[in-house]
Order: sequence, then C-alpha cells, then structure tokens
Amino acid sequence: MGKGLFITFEGADGCGKTTQIELLDKYFKEKSKETLLTREPGAKGLGIKLREILLNYDGEVSSNCESFLFLADRAQHVDCIIKPALDEGKIVLCDRHIDSTVAYQGYGRQLDIEQIKMLNNIATGGLKPDLTIIFDIDTETSLKRVGKNKDRMESAGIEFFERVRNGFLEIAKDEPQRVKVINSADTIENIHHKVVELVEKL
Ligand code: TYD
Repeated sequence: MGKGLFITFEGADGCGKTTQIELLDKYFKEKSKETLLTREPGAKGLGIKLREILLNYDGEVSSNCESFLFLADRAQHVDCIIKPALDEGKIVLCDRHIDSTVAYQGYGRQLDIEQIKMLNNIATGGLKPDLTIIFDIDTETSLKRVGKNKDRMESAGIEFFERVRNGFLEIAKDEPQRVKVINSADTIENIHHKVVELVEKL
C-alpha cells in the first residue's frame, strides 16, 4: 500500500470525533506534516450526491440498499482520494470508514456482519487503516447531543443506537491491534491528549 499513514475516527453520532479529528489535523500541521482531512459519506464530487441521498432521502430505503450506497461512496473515496494521498506520503485522517458500516448496517440494521466485512474489503481493495480510534459515548448523551434536527440515519431510535454502540465495542475487541477506544465522557483537551498518545505510538 502507500507510504502515508491512514487513521480513522469512529463512534456514534454526537461522540465528538469531528472536533477531535480537526484538533489532530492541527497537531500534525504544526509539525509540518502533510495531511488530508476527509470523511465518509461524501468527501467530495460524486460522494456529495450519495451523502445527500443517504442522509436526506425521505422515501423507503432498504437496509441492503443503504449498505451498498455507503460502500459505493467508500469505493469511490478510496480509489480517487485516499489511495492517491497515501501514495503521496500524506497522513490521511478520515471521519468514519469501514467500521461505521459494520456498526451501523451490521449491528444496527442487523445485517450479516461477516458479509458486511467482506463487502468492505471489496470496496476498499483490501486497504485497512493503520489506526482506528473509536470514541465511546453512552447512547442517551449521544442522542441528546444530536438534538431534535435529526437526519435520516439519526432518526433510527434508541435501540438501534444501543446496537451501534455495542457494535463499535465488539469491533475493538475483535481487532485490538488496530482499533482503540477512548471514553468520550472527558474534556476536549484530555481526549486530545489521549489521541496524540495513540498516534505517537504508531
Ligand atoms: P454525519 O453527518 O457525517 O454524522 P457524524 O457527524 O456523526 O459522522 O452522518 C453520517 C451518518 O451516516 C451517521 O449517522 C453514521 C452513518 N453511517 C452509516 O450508517 N454507515 C456508514 O458506513 C457510514 C460511513 C456512516
């Protein structure tokens, strides 16, 4: 694979990962490292259109269709944005990636976990993050932070989000080398220090 570094940030909605990924990006920039800060779904181009459907389409969407749309966005993102950046030696920081599909569509929508993992593998061409940080948050706080203005995914209900949270923790148990968990019930500064500690170990 490329000579860069690939780090993904994962967790339930409202877990604070977007704030943390921006802080880490700043940390690297201060050290004059070249980064690419990106996200799924919908980094740019075609992805923006897929994101619009995934988050805002208000008709029926089957769970399988939802999975394939996230996976289609991922394939495009990996091929056109992530891999080229890694080949250039950049540090790629990605807000959500393969583990979101396992947690949300696998555990949340209760699709076959092994199949989702296999499809992820096809979408990424086998690329895996060097480090994944999961920001764990209790479901009540997560839903409170999301508030009343919910998108299509955020409207799925508390049981769904309990399954998603549990899914992320299962992923961390399955792949302890790659996946680390940080408790989100802490100050932004303390969490940032923990993130930097994990990254420095790489
Ligand atoms: P977004 O607004 O980016 O949420 P956040 O700021 O919490 O990352 O919305 C992405 C939504 O899509 C979020 O609810 C998680 C969901 N999602 C999946 O269900 N499967 C996936 O594979 C991905 C990447 C995201």
